[in-house]
Amino acid sequence: MEHAVQVGIAKKFIEYLETDTTAMAPSLYRNPVRQYTCPDRLVREKAALFHHYPLHLGFSCEMPDPGDFKTDNFSGVPILLVRGADGNVGAFLNVCRHRGAPVAEGCGKGQRAFTCPYHAWVYGTDGSLQYIPGEAGFEALDNADHGLRRLPVQEKYGMIWAKTAPGPGFEIDDTLQGVARDLASYGFENFHHFETAELRPKMNWKLVIDTFLESYHIKVLHHASIASLIESNIQTFDSFGLNHRGIYVRKNFDELRAQPESDWNILPYTTMVYVLFPNTVLVVQQQQIETWRVYPDGDDPNRAKMHLSLYAPEAPATESAVRHWRNNMDLLKRVVNEEDFTLGEKMQMGFHSPAQEHVTFGRNEPSLAHFHGSLDSALGLRAAAE
Ligand code: FES
Ligand SMILES: [Fe+2]
Repeated sequence: MEHAVQVGIAKKFIEYLETDTTAMAPSLYRNPVRQYTCPDRLVREKAALFHHYPLHLGFSCEMPDPGDFKTDNFSGVPILLVRGADGNVGAFLNVCRHRGAPVAEGCGKGQRAFTCPYHAWVYGTDGSLQYIPGEAGFEALDNADHGLRRLPVQEKYGMIWAKTAPGPGFEIDDTLQGVARDLASYGFENFHHFETAELRPKMNWKLVIDTFLESYHIKVLHHASIASLIESNIQTFDSFGLNHRGIYVRKNFDELRAQPESDWNILPYTTMVYVLFPNTVLVVQQQQIETWRVYPDGDDPNRAKMHLSLYAPEAPATESAVRHWRNNMDLLKRVVNEEDFTLGEKMQMGFHSPAQEHVTFGRNEPSLAHFHGSLDSALGLRAAAE
């Protein structure tokens, strides 16, 4: 993050801490409860969000070398990402052009070709159809027209995005807008992928994202875990089109205040939470990078699935470094599973009760208002979010 931006954020935190205030939305926001429970709304979201916007699918460091690949079915579309011999990442529908079987499973390294598990048609890492066993049966088939179907993809800032349907390419900066400058500053190209975990809470996918979007709950729900590290109910808020950045302040912030302004680096003293529209939460805290890529689970608005990926600045070189990152991953899973999602599943149940038609986002919860406003504007339900 640019130094001048960091200084501006640090000065806001000084003011907020001294005056016991926080960033405020212009007004209260009432969010209809049915948005978390309505199957029709979910159908609209899938069409307008998950099958329209580029989706963040992982970091470049997960597949650094030619032939490295990963698959991802979470959007409901089977996607194969593979780094080609030319060093570029290609995205394909993971669907064999013979009879439709997936040609790759999971992830892997240094793959030279993909052999379909059904009848062994062979595809190159560029998606081209290279070999058909028993070719005499397919003499009339045009091999050049039966490569894996390509998907639009872009690799930038050490991150990978793809769309779920074939079509023209895209420029991810058009979606990221100003948040691109922050992403460019972090040097994700040089990070190391520690681990990706899969979580499936019984909550609407938006409610999962909501749990990251305010610090108001930290000293209450997280009193026994992270409340000793992060201040409650203090945050900065900045929007970048449909994306936003909310920054929380850590309890060691006084150490920064003791330094000259020209040396200020807010990273060790803050937790930065970005929503990369539509469904990725990116958390930058100290040297640790987390992404939470959240999807609806099937057609049920009451269920979500997500990939939690943890990235470190470098590959852990010692056993104690591995232990450190293992502990961080375990802490993340424990806090969300035992605290946020345990409560969230009960909230999801309560949404089906006649208790109320709306939940309320306070003015001190500006990130929630922006996220839901952005969703509604992308669905064509209201003017562009503020
Ligand atoms: S379905 Fe792939 S080779 Fe037959
Ligand atoms: Fe939380």
